[in-house]
Amino acid sequence: MTDRAEPSAYVRLAIAQASGLLPSDRPDAEVIKLNSNENPYPPSPRALAALRSIGGESLRRYPDAFADEFRRAVSAELDVPPDWILVTNGGDALIDLLVRACTDRDRPIVFPDPTYPLYGHLAPLQESRAIPVPFLPSLDLDAAKFAANFPLERLVEQRGALTFVANPNSPTGHVLPLATLRQLAENVAGILAIDEAYIDFTDAKSAIELVREFDNAIVLRTLSKGYGLAGLRLGFGVANPALLAELWKVRPVYAIDAISARVGAAAIADRVYKVARVRSICQTRDGFAKFLADRGFAVWPSGGNFLLVRPPERFGSARSLHEALRARQIWVRHYDSSRLKDKLRVTIGTEAQMSQVLGAIDAISKST
Ligand SMILES: Cc1ncc(COP(=O)(O)O)c(C=O)c1O
Repeated sequence: MTDRAEPSAYVRLAIAQASGLLPSDRPDAEVIKLNSNENPYPPSPRALAALRSIGGESLRRYPDAFADEFRRAVSAELDVPPDWILVTNGGDALIDLLVRACTDRDRPIVFPDPTYPLYGHLAPLQESRAIPVPFLPSLDLDAAKFAANFPLERLVEQRGALTFVANPNSPTGHVLPLATLRQLAENVAGILAIDEAYIDFTDAKSAIELVREFDNAIVLRTLSKGYGLAGLRLGFGVANPALLAELWKVRPVYAIDAISARVGAAAIADRVYKVARVRSICQTRDGFAKFLADRGFAVWPSGGNFLLVRPPERFGSARSLHEALRARQIWVRHYDSSRLKDKLRVTIGTEAQMSQVLGAIDAISKST
């Protein structure tokens, strides 16, 4: 046998040196899983009926590359023309596509910090630079102050080829006014990607109207959160067709399979179902926030299907509460970073699940 190089020698240095992003843990038993911001409710019955209706013929053939059935449904829902919509395998694939299309050694990626980790994670794979811009002055509890303190100028100064802003933001849950996003679109050097993965859970206005005003703005949406279809892997970007034409060059032609396009179209068309489920989640979220605040937790105002909370001292640390909940089969998210390690992000489950979480928190509190 001839001597072979290490497998890492076959890939680009940037890839060999990358650590890779691990998915969040998957449970092997019945647990209350509140660590990935999944929707606790099943998808629309109309989406499930569409799934059952798929026959062999539509699987034998290559799918419609443009996913036009799905784009028509989105177009009707959001009142944008179909050619302003680019469909991807979840929001993550759109983020990846933007990073591959827009960034390299001289073209950095800019985002407020803390936010969705994927934005920064993809930079080294492109030999690009991730520039996190910390929220000012700290993670302020007051929503109005937070918006006023948003580091707009410092984001602009970095001259990113690609600036990501999640609105609502994860894990903080904060929501920015449209005026702030408009200022960003006007002033950033390159593309402004407004990630509206959680927009269904807030009354705040979507930034979709900005894509009509600014040719450098793109809005990201997903069916993973409001529509309860994280397993389907379907998302899309809304932007002017000239910008999308550049991104189309990067997307694999048949990325969207026939099943996802059909099921996604049915889900989008069932607005009544989505709104009802989202309303339940928001009610549960607001009740849960009040319960935790009554027990001394700091609770960040949230426009998402999750809450960022800081447990009071009697729980020891956020990590120890995380572990104690986990021992009771309740999984929430804990982050190691210095600004977040005293906090937990808790996805909002069903009313029944959150009652169990509250019971567990009271029991842990008594035992500490
Ligand atoms: C802010 C944000 N953007 C995008 C995504 C990607 O979602 P998906 O790839 O499931 O569409 C997530 C998922 O958690 C998210 O939190």
